[in-house]
Amino acid sequence: MTLRIALRETEVAGKRFEPGHGILLYVGGANRDPGVFPAPDTFDVTRPNADQHIAFSAGVHYCLGASLARLEAAVALRSLYERFPGLSVSGTPQRRPTRVLRGYERLPVSTGARVSA
Ligand code: HEM
Repeated sequence: MTLRIALRETEVAGKRFEPGHGILLYVGGANRDPGVFPAPDTFDVTRPNADQHIAFSAGVHYCLGASLARLEAAVALRSLYERFPGLSVSGTPQRRPTRVLRGYERLPVSTGARVSA
């Protein structure tokens, strides 16, 4: 989530805001908007409009590190799958009890490698 302060009287989704009012925005919720992404809870990076997510925000506060973050993710995920091509989820994931920076506390995986006797 992120926060904006109204500079002038404005209306968002039928709610009125006076100057100085804080508006808490759930960016993660917007990324699951069924009006933008069909089957929004399905992780599918091949959707034709996958680039319409706002995980890096938008406008003047667009994430300054977005290019670096994309590069890091590409290098990290490629290295991970090259090293463990059979990687798959093998247990129930557990989320961290946070609201702002969401993520996993535990994500049990299997590498698919056989253990020899
Ligand atoms: C996956 C990784 C990342 C995600 C999802 C992410 C997400 C975001 C989001 C959503 C915002 C905007 C917040 C808002 O609108 O209030 C933001 C801003 C920002 N990010 Fe990132 N970020 C990531 C990585 C990085 C990295 C690696 C850097 C720096 C090396 C960085 C630097 C910044 C800075 C400086 C801003 C403030 C921009 C401004 O307010 O003008 N971010 N980021």
